[in-house]
Amino acid sequence: MQNGSLQKYFRSEITAMSPYKPGEQPQTGKSIKLNTNENPYPPSPKVLEAIVAASSRLERYPDPIGTAFRIAASNVLGVDPDMILCGNGSDDCLTVLTRAFVGAGKKLRLPYPSYILYRTLAELQEAKFEEVEFDSNFGLAESFYASDSELKLVYLPNPNSPSGTMVDHASILKLADSVDCPVVVDEAYVDFAPENCIGLIQQNPKIIVTRTFSKSYALAGLRFGYLVAHPEMVATLRKVKDSYNTDMLSLAGATAAISDQAWLQENVRKIIATRTRMTVELRNLGFDVIESQANFVWCSRKDRSLQELYEQLKKFGILVRYMVYPRWSDGLRISVGTDEQIDATLLILKRLLA
Ligand SMILES: Cc1ncc(COP(=O)(O)O)c(C=O)c1O
Repeated sequence: MQNGSLQKYFRSEITAMSPYKPGEQPQTGKSIKLNTNENPYPPSPKVLEAIVAASSRLERYPDPIGTAFRIAASNVLGVDPDMILCGNGSDDCLTVLTRAFVGAGKKLRLPYPSYILYRTLAELQEAKFEEVEFDSNFGLAESFYASDSELKLVYLPNPNSPSGTMVDHASILKLADSVDCPVVVDEAYVDFAPENCIGLIQQNPKIIVTRTFSKSYALAGLRFGYLVAHPEMVATLRKVKDSYNTDMLSLAGATAAISDQAWLQENVRKIIATRTRMTVELRNLGFDVIESQANFVWCSRKDRSLQELYEQLKKFGILVRYMVYPRWSDGLRISVGTDEQIDATLLILKRLLA
């Protein structure tokens, strides 16, 4: 059989689209892994205890709406449990939202540069996507607020990836007032930032906030995320999600994790301290480093090839993310690791740049 001969059975949009490429996930060896913004520390020990306890009930289906998690989260977030929808990672929440709001031929808006997955989600829906460049301070450009009858959903990562920058509350409220569709504030990195948007939902029920356990809770391997929205939004979004989209082990782990806020605060404190230090040291090495509110920093420089530097780091077992945004810049996105990992990375960089 000729390679490619099965393509004719797929929807033409699927054949034509390029796949979303997640960062490398080496399954062997001992690299210093700073390429996908995972937490370098192990999660709260209470998570493992909860998962072990839950594993004795695996013959049953999980709670389809994650009641215990939503109650625990509602206590921490100060919202009603009916405002929370659980997902298999926040990517699952983003998939549910795109499927629910953006039909074929309609439009989804996102900033540029930002998280590439939003584009893939639009393509899967046979929808159009409109990438609007940030202004020079990583604020929203005027055209980001433009109303458009075809526009069905707006995505705004806040803090943004890969820049680590934030858009203020006034701009987000103005955006939700200007467009006639929901505005999703993707808060994957918000625990490392000074403020979040959950309170804005009361002011405009078109605002939806998504969160993940992959970053600040150190649970990327567990796959758990959630969204917070007006109860009417959540009730209708439940029609779109898979019936059992979160499994019993991830529900138990996430419930234990969100209940251990002391662990979260201590972890965030360590990450921010390392972030501050690495920003200064990378600047001392001649990189342009954007002030980050997330658990990674974006570094660029004009005087040498960053792709080459990325490959040289990789030979030393240090994995960072080399990214190219043709209409903006190329750069290295470096996740905040432990102090030891960052010291080792800085040492090698110093040698490579000498
Ligand atoms: C902006 C943004 N949103 C969402 C996600 C997805 O997170 P999750 O692991 O919960 O699917 C990521 C992951 O890197 C991200 O950068």
